[in-house]
Amino acid sequence: MSKRTVLTGITTTGTPHLGNYVGAIKPAIQASHGDAVRACYFLADYHALIKCRDPQVVQRSTLEIAATWLALGLDTDRALFYRQSDIPEITELTWLLTCVTAKGLMNRAHAYKAAVQENLDKGEDADLAITMGLFSYPVLMAADILMFNAQHVPVGRDQVQHLEMARDIAQRFNHFFGEHFVIPEAVVDDNVAVLPGLDGRKMSKSYNNTIPLWLPEKKLRKSIMQIVTNSLEPGQPKQTGDSALFAIYSAFASAAQREAMQQAFADGIGWGDAKQQCFELINSELAPARASYEALLSDPAQIESRLREGAQKAREITVPLMRDLRKAVGIRPLA
Ligand code: TRP
Repeated sequence: MSKRTVLTGITTTGTPHLGNYVGAIKPAIQASHGDAVRACYFLADYHALIKCRDPQVVQRSTLEIAATWLALGLDTDRALFYRQSDIPEITELTWLLTCVTAKGLMNRAHAYKAAVQENLDKGEDADLAITMGLFSYPVLMAADILMFNAQHVPVGRDQVQHLEMARDIAQRFNHFFGEHFVIPEAVVDDNVAVLPGLDGRKMSKSYNNTIPLWLPEKKLRKSIMQIVTNSLEPGQPKQTGDSALFAIYSAFASAAQREAMQQAFADGIGWGDAKQQCFELINSELAPARASYEALLSDPAQIESRLREGAQKAREITVPLMRDLRKAVGIRPLA
């Protein structure tokens, strides 16, 4: 039986935080170790251009995210790890798909609709500052996925609609030009913890409540000390259910550690002690990888060359497929 292909993209804006690590990076790296799947993970740097016009930020973030995945032990012999912009077939496919995508389908995209609504709420022109990149980005995302005939695409809830669109686009292309594409499915894992941030809301860059993944030890401790708690004193029993600290601790704990912490809460552990334990647990998990991360960051040439190797392997798939697709639509030699 051939392997199931699992594919996901990471937009290269910003620095990874603990929420990205627990919710996406760690499970993806674990999944790639299994024999049942062919994992394709890529740096979505073309997607970054939709949100970011600072070349320095795009480049730096690409470096940091690549270093993160490599430092955390992504096995690039098993998994395909590449940078989107190294695969010119992806942009080429984007155009073929654009030509079968209904504009009405794109009109319904949540991200686009939200941007329009925001303009209207402010009394502005509906299209103010909305680029074609934002509008047609689901087509680029469909090309990312269809190019590798991925069956399963692990994503957050906010991306499920884009997968529906990719399916729709694939079906239309297949209908016009023959069965070229597998119809992909979104995989939203409800067991993966949604990590709360410092203020107790979901950890997210847009809430400004994140704990960056690669803080140096002292700063990591300081950040964990800032997680919100209530005013209960040491000795007073504490609830775990509404505690961001307990949730963050649990995301890194074994079942036994989690139970022990639950008991400690019931026994009235002081917030300072609980935070110290949380820091030690997280730090012990991250410290070895942190050293590799720092080594990688100081050797961008090594990262560059591993990405290029990844691209070379990826293009063994994309070049022949693109050749067939061009032929299928009638872009063919004349003689
Ligand atoms: N749009 C996705 C996000 O913001 C990232 C992404 C780009 C992606 N291309 C993809 C995810 C293809 C899955 C498959 O999270």
